[in-house]
Amino acid sequence: MKKFTNVADIGNLKEAVAEALEVKKNRFAWTELGRNKTLLMIFFNSSLRTRLSTQKAAMNLGMNVMVLDVNQGAWKLETERGVVMDGDKAEHLLEAIPVMGSYCDIIGVRSFAGLKNKAEDYEERVIEQFIRYSGRPVFSMEAATGHPLQSFADLITIEEHKTVARPKVVLTWAPHPKALPQAVPNSFAEWMNAADYELVVTHPKGYELDPRFVRPEQIEYDQRKAFEGADFIYAKNWSAFADENYGAVLSTDRDWTVDAEKMALTNNAYFMHCLPVRRNMIVTDDVIESERSLVIPEAANREISAQVVIKRLLENL
Ligand code: CP
Repeated sequence: MKKFTNVADIGNLKEAVAEALEVKKNRFAWTELGRNKTLLMIFFNSSLRTRLSTQKAAMNLGMNVMVLDVNQGAWKLETERGVVMDGDKAEHLLEAIPVMGSYCDIIGVRSFAGLKNKAEDYEERVIEQFIRYSGRPVFSMEAATGHPLQSFADLITIEEHKTVARPKVVLTWAPHPKALPQAVPNSFAEWMNAADYELVVTHPKGYELDPRFVRPEQIEYDQRKAFEGADFIYAKNWSAFADENYGAVLSTDRDWTVDAEKMALTNNAYFMHCLPVRRNMIVTDDVIESERSLVIPEAANREISAQVVIKRLLENL
């Protein structure tokens, strides 16, 4: 594997999950693979899980790890070419990227959507520049339009808990006070479709995702109807994708909050969320604290998904 930004990069999903379960059983079996190799993790945005799980995964593989928080201590970076740099940005990405590449063997990048310029976000301008100019294998630690390390961990978690070959998985929009990117729901839908699960997506009208990720026939606007017979409920907020109101918050209707009454409509479904989660906006306390909540095992599997990805990148150096 040369890079990891979407489901296609991981190849056969059954093999990837089998490898993940092997890694999970014996995570220190490949400590020689990463010896004298350095991972550079670059964060343009905050993180708890990605930062810790990815660093742990790299350490499991025997790697050295460097972490750069671009907004804390680095020069402010210009990302647009052709800009007269007479403002507060002291360095251009086009110099910064190859310099960073010269200090490491593999680069992980977190760079969220700005939600102001849809073309810029959906062209993935920041991570694509890292792929093009760093001279190193690059993996996404959540980019503008996708969060594949999260979706891989979600897939591993579902495979560990499912009781039927093709579970019904429901991705439900839920309210949040701030505008959030579409990266997690895009990736989740992409990976669930690639796994050939029965995917249903439910949200208020106006929150339709990019049809490259969610086909119109997969949408059910009635949340309660969508929940019927579900094996897994995956809650997430996202902002509008449509051109006319890209990045907007169209609703904060708490009738969409996942609660026990709605979970009772399901096939005793497991509850999932990528975290961090706003309790009693996205999900009620009793549901997230219930025995059917998978949020902690799901977060723990982030170490495993990251380790498989970094392992495969190391194997291809
Ligand atoms: N789920 C996830 O990516 O968490 P962080 O934003 O804390 O890394």
